[in-house]
Amino acid sequence: MSEATATSMDDTLLAKWMRFANSTIGSKMIMAVTGMGLWLFLVAHLAGNLTAFLGKDTFNHYAEALHANPPLLWAVRLALLVGFPLHIFTAIRCAQINRAARPVEYAFANKTPVNPAATTMILSGGVVLAFLGYHLAHFTWRLTGPMPEPFNPYDMLVKGFQQPLIAVFYIAAQILLAGHLAHGLYSMFQHLGLHGQRWTPGVKKFALVVGYGLCTAFSAVPLFVMLGVIK
Ligand code: HEM
Repeated sequence: MSEATATSMDDTLLAKWMRFANSTIGSKMIMAVTGMGLWLFLVAHLAGNLTAFLGKDTFNHYAEALHANPPLLWAVRLALLVGFPLHIFTAIRCAQINRAARPVEYAFANKTPVNPAATTMILSGGVVLAFLGYHLAHFTWRLTGPMPEPFNPYDMLVKGFQQPLIAVFYIAAQILLAGHLAHGLYSMFQHLGLHGQRWTPGVKKFALVVGYGLCTAFSAVPLFVMLGVIK
């Protein structure tokens, strides 16, 4: 294949992808698929974190097993490296599409109570991103926070959360994340067609329970270290 043909093929593929990503339906599908992937990651990550309740050996075994399988670790990292930015850029694009669809403010104020999580998705998403930056610097790159000598992941976790400021920061970030996840899940189901009188009330409750439930469970490790139960 000549270089010119390959380039023009890339151009059309890229152009097609850009058209899809920029369309309303395409951006909603990208949000749903990347959102679902991020959910799967969070559930798996939570299951790993909760092994801290089973003691030092179990948690360290889990961390060791994670790093003993580089292809799996890097497949997950790659999916996150692609999925996270795609989720963020598409969220911004969706907000732009929504704003462009309604350039003039409504003549009458809408009296329906608004859910604060719904109106602050971009803001709470930004806070989650800032939390993630700190979190990676702490546990993955080990650039900040107290480190045990000799190193092991369990003691790093415990020493970190024995600092009340770090533990409170993690718990506060989970509360914000909960609102973001609950609204994200609700909107994902709406886009998948589960709306209307029959579905909306149940979907709303389900999203709240799952979003806040997941983040309560994430908060359990820093909270129980602070209380001296995990030590
Ligand atoms: C209290 C809550 C959390 C705790 C205790 C926690 C704990 C940890 C630990 C110990 C690691 C390092 C694993 C290792 O390399 O051995 C890690 C990595 C990571 N965590 Fe968390 N985490 C929490 C919440 C979150 C949340 C809410 C997110 C996403 C928004 C997240 C995203 C990540 C990512 C992306 C990594 C890097 C995985 C990799 O090495 O590629 N974590 N976490």
